[in-house]
Amino acid sequence: MRAIVQHTYGGPDILTETEVPLPEPGVGEVRIRVAAAGVNPTDWKHRDGTIPYDHGLPATTGWDVAGTVDKTGPGVTIFEEGDEVFGMLPYPYAPGSYAEFATGPARAFAAKPGTIDFAQAAALPLAALTAWQALHDTAGLRDGQRVLIQGAAGGVGHLAVQIARHLGAEVTATASAADADFVRSLGAAQVFDYRTTSISDVLSDADAALVPFTGQTRLDSLRAVRRGGVLVSLLGADEEALTLAGERGVRYRSLMVQSDHAGMRAIADLAAEGALRAKIHATLPLSRAAEAHRLGEDGQIDGKLVLLP
Ligand SMILES: NC(=O)c1ccc[n+]([C@@H]2O[C@H](COP(=O)([O-])OP(=O)(O)OC[C@H]3O[C@@H](n4cnc5c(N)ncnc54)[C@H](OP(=O)(O)O)[C@@H]3O)[C@@H](O)[C@H]2O)c1
Repeated sequence: MRAIVQHTYGGPDILTETEVPLPEPGVGEVRIRVAAAGVNPTDWKHRDGTIPYDHGLPATTGWDVAGTVDKTGPGVTIFEEGDEVFGMLPYPYAPGSYAEFATGPARAFAAKPGTIDFAQAAALPLAALTAWQALHDTAGLRDGQRVLIQGAAGGVGHLAVQIARHLGAEVTATASAADADFVRSLGAAQVFDYRTTSISDVLSDADAALVPFTGQTRLDSLRAVRRGGVLVSLLGADEEALTLAGERGVRYRSLMVQSDHAGMRAIADLAAEGALRAKIHATLPLSRAAEAHRLGEDGQIDGKLVLLP
């Protein structure tokens, strides 16, 4: 089968289309004929070695998959050959969606709703699971609560706004001015331009915050959360943030997204209802994976990129 393989860490051009053996599904695994592979920032962070691969090199990056079950391994009862599914390969240790076929645990996947196409399905898993695990599982966001979503036009953020609205929360969001209308259209009550407004000047009583940034943005976000509230960080913690959280009585949680059958089923239900939709900037053939990385890294995209084998 064809796969995008890297033998070193480096820039986009190290991504090479290569013929590799077809993977066999192990116990509890399915093999998916990949119809679409979603692209996420962690893909290029692994490609360039910012985050080294758990299993070393050579490696095929990519965690988001949508496609058709092609073969089931021993013990799989929830899917059969021909089922259309979408999901996230186990993060961080089992990437490999930039390929014609990928294998993963059956329960990393959910049935793809018939109402969405493969590109839409592949754009959702990692970013939507992150938002779901942050807002539903970690913050326990409830009807009537107020949540701060930082980076609300981004891959995670734009799905988080939709999930927060589905959970009944009022959303205060940050985005650049050009994206404000888009973020409002997703249901945010207020959108502040992060380039001109420090969020703690305009918000101090959020029940929860979702923060995919470090530094001053994360510190300001802590000041925007009420005592007893929770901040979910997508980029770990540092001493300064933990100290401030302690002083302010804000619970600080560092999330690392996980494969999650229950989460994927919730995401599938929301997508089927039309309550959750990924904005897709472009679909590109798998052979242009390097170009997808360049576009994503340059920050020139508006929505998600999806590769089609
Ligand atoms: N821990 C985990 O499990 C996990 C999971 C998913 C993602 N992440 C991480 O979370 C980060 C975001 O991921 P993503 O897919 O959402 O990225 P993305 O699609 O690149 O989105 C980032 C968004 O944030 C905006 N932005 C940049 N600086 C900002 C600031 N200071 N304040 C508010 N908004 C700002 C950008 O707007 P402009 O383009 O207008 O500047 C962009 O819309 C990445 O670093 C990713 O690796 C972690």
